[in-house]
Amino acid sequence: MAERQDIHDLSSSEFLEKVHSFEVWFQSVEGYLSGLEYGHAENAVDDPMTDVDRERLISVLCNYCVGETAALEGASGLIRIAPNRLAKIFLSTQVVDEGRHLEVLLHRMSDLGVADPEGEIARRASPSLVAFKRRLLELVDFGDWEAAILAQNVILEALEFAVFRRHAETADRITSEVLYGIVKDERRHIGFGENELGRRLRATPRLSTRLLAVKRELDHLVLDALETTARSIGVDVGERETLARMYLESVRRLGLEG
Ligand SMILES: [Fe+2]
Ligand SMILES: [Fe+2]
Repeated sequence: MAERQDIHDLSSSEFLEKVHSFEVWFQSVEGYLSGLEYGHAENAVDDPMTDVDRERLISVLCNYCVGETAALEGASGLIRIAPNRLAKIFLSTQVVDEGRHLEVLLHRMSDLGVADPEGEIARRASPSLVAFKRRLLELVDFGDWEAAILAQNVILEALEFAVFRRHAETADRITSEVLYGIVKDERRHIGFGENELGRRLRATPRLSTRLLAVKRELDHLVLDALETTARSIGVDVGERETLARMYLESVRRLGLEG
C-alpha cells in the first residue's frame, strides 16, 4: 500500500508533508488509543491506595495538568504565528493531543475523589511550573516562533517525557497506563521541535545565541519543577540527577550548551 511507503525513502519536503499530517497522526494514535476509556482499559478498578499516596498522586497530577495546559494554550497560540501551513497542521494535531492529555489527567483526578480540580490545581501547582507557563505564553504572544518552539516542543516536552516515563514505571496500574499513552504523543511533539529548530539552527547558526539565552532563563524553573515532582513520585537523589541530565541532554542535542 502506497501509504505504507518507508518514510526514510521520502525526499525532505515529502517527509515534512507526511509527518505534519493528520494522516500520520491518526495512524499513530489509533494503535494505542482505540478501545480505551479516558486513556486506560475500560472498567479498570483502582488497586488499594493509602490516603498519603493518594494525596501525593493528586498533587503530582495537578502539576501535570499545569504542564499540559501550558502545551495546549501554547500550541494553539503558535498556530497563528507558524511560518508555514504544514507547521500549522502539525500544531493542530498537537492541540488535539494536549487537550486529550488534560482531559485524561482531570478524569484521573476525579477518579481519585477530587471534586474541584481547578481549585486543587491552583492550590497545589509548583510556582516554578506556573512561572514557566507564563513565560512560554509570553514568548508565543510576542510572536517569537523559535524561542516558543524551544520552550514548548523541546524544553517542556523533554521535561514531561522524562518525568511521565519514569512515573509510569512505578505508578498504580491506571495512572501508569494513562501516562504511557501520553508519553507516546510527547515523543512526536519533541520530534517536531527538534526537526524544526535543527533546520533553522543549521541555516542560521547565530540563532543559537538567542536560544541559549532562553534556555538559560528557563532551566532553573524546569529543574526546580523536575526536582519537586520527582521527589513526590519517590525518585531518590541519584535518579533525580539522572532525570535532570536526560532533560539537559535533549536540549544539548540541538547544540545549545551552557
Ligand atoms: Fe502533553
Ligand atoms: Fe506534548
